[in-house]
Amino acid sequence: DIISHKQADLKGRRILVTAGPTVEPIDPVRFISNRSSGLQGYAIAEALAARGAEVHLISGPVSLPTPPHVTRINVQTAQEMYEACLAHLPVDAAICVAAVSDWRADTIQAHKIKKKGDEAAPTLSLVENPDILATLSHAEQRPALVVGFAAETTHLQDYAQQKRQKKGCDWLLANDVSKHQFGGAENQVLFLTGSGVEPWPEMSKQDLAQHLADKIASFFHQEAP
Ligand code: CTP
Ligand code: CA
Repeated sequence: DIISHKQADLKGRRILVTAGPTVEPIDPVRFISNRSSGLQGYAIAEALAARGAEVHLISGPVSLPTPPHVTRINVQTAQEMYEACLAHLPVDAAICVAAVSDWRADTIQAHKIKKKGDEAAPTLSLVENPDILATLSHAEQRPALVVGFAAETTHLQDYAQQKRQKKGCDWLLANDVSKHQFGGAENQVLFLTGSGVEPWPEMSKQDLAQHLADKIASFFHQEAP
């Protein structure tokens, strides 16, 4: 078993991980989405399951295999991801890695929108999606540990610190997406907690997942009576 060569130090912990993009339909053939390969979220789910955690991976559409010993729940929209997350509470930890679409079309057209000669292009009216990370951070059944990610293209540390406070999560991993190509194998983050900022070196998404799993395991180790 893959668990046997590792310390099963997360055994008995129930952990929710969101990953991938969400997809918001406009009409039967079109959608709005976010760039996301799902690689980082899947690597985290895999690392946690390998240490014995009961991992529920709520995933938007990605072309990746389900990691061993992980329960995967497929969703399309932010609303579906939100509902699936709430349906899985209570959990010990929630790790929100998904690139959730901030907006959706306010009405989904039942039929394909057609071009109409020389009329102007249609305009899209958008409404905001629920914030899953903020909701989990303030839930009545709040997980003991709530972790978010932040993708920024400028003012990385300032924006990320503000985001951690605004969302109410415990930890936030911030990456500069203008430096790291989407879908790449490497990642580099600032690790923000209530007690400060640690810049982590550039590493593979697998190594980053191991690093985070170490932090999560020691969080629960210290929390234990
Ligand atoms: N997130 C979420 N639900 C949303 C939007 C974001 O759970 N509707 C989570 C992401 O999974 C990530 C974190 O919130 O863990 C930060 O996402 P990000 O897009 O960086 O932050 P936003 O608050 O949406 O701010 P903005 O996109 O304006 O920078
Ligand atoms: Ca966003």
